[in-house]
Amino acid sequence: MNARSGFWRGECGRLRAEGVLLEDIAEQFGTPCYVYSRSAIIGNYARLVNAFPKSKPSFRFAVKANGNLAVLKLLAEQGAGFDIVSGGELARVLAVGADAKKVVFSGVGKSAEEIRQALDAGIGSFNVESEGELLRIEKIAAERGKRAPVSLRCNPRIVATEDNLATGDPESKFGINENEAIPLAKRATSSDSLSFVGLSCHIGSQIDDERAYEFATDSMEFLCDDLRNEGIHTPAINMGGGFFVDYEGSGKEIDYTEYDYGLASLSRKTKLVILEPGRSVCATAGVLLSRIEYEKKCEDKLYWIADAGMNDFLRPALYSAKHRVVAVAGSADIDERTGDIAGPVCENTDTLAHDCRLRVTHGDLIAILDAGAYGMTMASNYNARPRPCEVMVDGDAAFLIRRRESVE
Ligand code: LLP
Repeated sequence: MNARSGFWRGECGRLRAEGVLLEDIAEQFGTPCYVYSRSAIIGNYARLVNAFPKSKPSFRFAVKANGNLAVLKLLAEQGAGFDIVSGGELARVLAVGADAKKVVFSGVGKSAEEIRQALDAGIGSFNVESEGELLRIEKIAAERGKRAPVSLRCNPRIVATEDNLATGDPESKFGINENEAIPLAKRATSSDSLSFVGLSCHIGSQIDDERAYEFATDSMEFLCDDLRNEGIHTPAINMGGGFFVDYEGSGKEIDYTEYDYGLASLSRKTKLVILEPGRSVCATAGVLLSRIEYEKKCEDKLYWIADAGMNDFLRPALYSAKHRVVAVAGSADIDERTGDIAGPVCENTDTLAHDCRLRVTHGDLIAILDAGAYGMTMASNYNARPRPCEVMVDGDAAFLIRRRESVE
């Protein structure tokens, strides 16, 4: 079994999730269906925890990657806290009994109502992304006779990943620029309604160049020194998430050793170092199981029309993301052919994968790999399509962890 994904082919070449045949899952729960491997989620999380033996950071799972209650509960049991970006995500983590102190609230557009809810829940930190937000949080905390814990999200001026996923450059809508950090930290430390709990950053997603992490760490360390020169102690530094996932199966792995050293050096200046991984915890632990409805030829081009579309899985349409697609069983009597996997949605961009070489035809099952992060969380009802169900496999058992939506 592949420890990172929990998906593997048994002797007869049929794809399994841990001990369960994907064909049986399709039969029992229908398609399209997200399938997660419990052991792969636990394994991915443990690998991350163990990758930082020197700095021993505290982890806050980014709920936007996978907000299923069973997944959140599993991660809370492993000791994870959570990074949330909305009142909805707050409700989800509270529903699974998360420790509110281990919840950080990121996002550029926190509404007054969301701030009230998070304050009342007693979250560990508002990761503040603008002066306006700091003032709003201060006002709401004052009205409620509370002190709001605030951390300042700063941009370390790094563009380390593709445009769509980069968030660390000075013109990005996220975070504040370094020169705003000192005045805002002073404001926070001198306010009766705020407590300054640290600095944070998140330079983007799918970062595959280790130097970017190191650069960001250095930059936060300088900022921490600047604050100290102003007499301000930084209790925690949150370096965000963004770890690379090898969607294309190139074999590339991130070496966290230097990053760990950098974080260990940071941890000598601050009490707590935090990381906020999302994708790296659950992307490889999930597939989207789908059935081919039709195959059609347009001139020389072959399309397999699947029952899953861009409303179920948006990444290929939104980012031109490439996900590997495999046949679940593969029809032995069919030749391997090259074609695109398209969905039923009325959009040209509704193509889940281009130029796949597969041995499948209508009626066959396919699995879109590495769909456990930003899959179901980005699904929509476009074209009035009900969203898929979600299933968690644990050893030889498969559990429905979210029902398929119905039109009603
Ligand atoms: N922390 C913050 C403040 C974030 O904005 C994000 C992701 C993370 C942590 C987690 O990053 P991760 O470890 O998952 O890369 N929908 C896109 C990704 C958008 C990510 C937004 N922020 C996708 O499908 O690739």
